[in-house]
Amino acid sequence: MATEEWNRIVTELPSRLEDSRAYTAQGRVAAYIPELAHAPGNALGIAIMNGASGIITAGDVALPFTLQSISKVFTLLLALMDKGESGVFAKVGMEPTGDNFNSMLKLELVDPGIPFNPLINAGAIAVSSLIAGADPAEKSERILTFFRQLAGDPTIGYNDAVYRSETATAHRNRSLAYFLKANGVLEEDVEEVLEVYFKHCSIEVNCTQLARMAQVLAFDGTDPVTGRQLIPRRYVQIAKSFMITCGMYNESGAFAIRVGLPAKSGVSGGILALVPGKYGIGVVGPALNAKGNSTAGVHLLETLSTEFDWSIF
Ligand code: DON
Repeated sequence: MATEEWNRIVTELPSRLEDSRAYTAQGRVAAYIPELAHAPGNALGIAIMNGASGIITAGDVALPFTLQSISKVFTLLLALMDKGESGVFAKVGMEPTGDNFNSMLKLELVDPGIPFNPLINAGAIAVSSLIAGADPAEKSERILTFFRQLAGDPTIGYNDAVYRSETATAHRNRSLAYFLKANGVLEEDVEEVLEVYFKHCSIEVNCTQLARMAQVLAFDGTDPVTGRQLIPRRYVQIAKSFMITCGMYNESGAFAIRVGLPAKSGVSGGILALVPGKYGIGVVGPALNAKGNSTAGVHLLETLSTEFDWSIF
């Protein structure tokens, strides 16, 4: 049923998006994974789903993009479903770092040398090792199946060029992973864990598919379209807490103040956000700020949250 707010979003979204598009000029497309550098820097798209079949889109919603760090929220959820809270939190902590997403600083500074949280690269690499499966292929298959189920779309797959590009250039992630091995966090073969990690980062979606994944979190683990409980509510609560404290990396504090929604960004320019009990949101805007977050995507979410009073605080 269309509410008054929904009707206002329908009317206002196209112009709000075009206003935010100007902020793409303040960002830069990620290039440390060479294949990502081909993304259009002035693109901006958004899809908002209202928990049933209602969807509003604006801008470049057809643009495919890889999930990158957004996938970390969902691998965390799968690891929690596979290993439980005690299994996961033996290998990864619960605190924000205040450092860059690929920093290794605190791995050596703080005992016992486990990553601070599952949304930084080191933490997500540790989480990849916790996914159940006999080998990297089976783990990756389980992750892809889970993501397809959340998006309600069996056609979702990998961007192989991005996967190969990251595999060939990920010297920093390799060093993080070997450090974790030395610290006893990784028990498996390092390259096998990295294969699982790079693969889930290269899963490709569009804004609509991302919005559908987001609304499962907005409705506490239930897919509002099918009514099926896909994730235990407690684990969604954990994921949303990490999204608030660490989802936008060392910009999470400013994002909580300005936008006030659980969200997760990726270096492809994607942002998943949710308005609890109401909307799942997928955004893409490949031009990034220095913290690795979409300049125009963050601006658009700030505008909408302010206009419609969405902050959870
Ligand atoms: O590991 C990496 O560097 C990328 N595959 C993902 C990083 C990322 O998306 C950080 N987000 N802002």
